Amino acid sequence: MAKDDALSPLGSYEEGMAPNAVEKVILSRRSTRAFKKEPLPDGMIRRILEAGRFAPSAGNSQPWKFVVVNDPEIIAEMEADAIKMCKLLMWFLDSTRSDLRKTYLSWLTKLVVRTRPNELHPVPFSLMKQIADGKAPVFHGAPTLILLLEDCRGVSSPPTDIGICGQNMVLAAHSMGAGSCWLGMIKLNMYLPKWRRLFGVKYPYSLNDCIALGWPKTPSDGEVKREVQLVTWFDRGTRKPRVERQGE
Ligand SMILES: Cc1cc2nc3c(=O)[nH]c(=O)nc-3n(C[C@H](O)[C@H](O)[C@H](O)COP(=O)(O)O)c2cc1C
Repeated sequence: MAKDDALSPLGSYEEGMAPNAVEKVILSRRSTRAFKKEPLPDGMIRRILEAGRFAPSAGNSQPWKFVVVNDPEIIAEMEADAIKMCKLLMWFLDSTRSDLRKTYLSWLTKLVVRTRPNELHPVPFSLMKQIADGKAPVFHGAPTLILLLEDCRGVSSPPTDIGICGQNMVLAAHSMGAGSCWLGMIKLNMYLPKWRRLFGVKYPYSLNDCIALGWPKTPSDGEVKREVQLVTWFDRGTRKPRVERQGE
């Protein structure tokens, strides 16, 4: 039996036992969107990178490359460029700004959204609108960014490997008291050759995503709600599925 929140020894699970240290880290992690200026110590960043380096990947192909950006000037310039890109994209795509635009632009918006359903999903679309209007930041004032570059020559599904790798980093950061936030919005910078050039984003690498790191300005505001999942179970000795509501 595990003591307090220590890890459970192999094969020692007991029904109803309290969450262990790893479960607590997973359940209590939140995205940080307000960072202190002071960066994490380099040694801590290296430990976070190490958690990513040890992630599993298909065929152990490790289809990733990490870039650490610790320079506030670079991050400020990236922020300014991402805002410019948002303004430009919204100028072309936001058909809701006026009746005239609604008449002449909504077909274009619909067409582009259809070709990029994930990047222009209503959630990032509305965030881009807020960024363009100066109502939301892109990098949240983080002192450090870890860029996760993806090697397209990886086995099976490199994006899955990168997701696992990044989540290892985010959980390691949280377990050490640091704050983190995944930042898909960094893709805005990748439209500009200067950033691709600086960060070595060229074949076989593309930018998968980015993780902002630093000390949180304030404690997290608690657990964020998740959807109840309808999980299909096939129990021992039966081929008849049973659906269980996970998370209630
Ligand atoms: C791949 C990925 C990209 C994300 N991109 C952004 C982003 O650009 N900006 C942002 O503020 N949050 C971003 N997030 C954070 C999500 O909004 C957040 O994880 C989600 O709302 C759940 O909240 P929680 O992380 O506090 O549990 C991203 C998360 C993931 C996994």
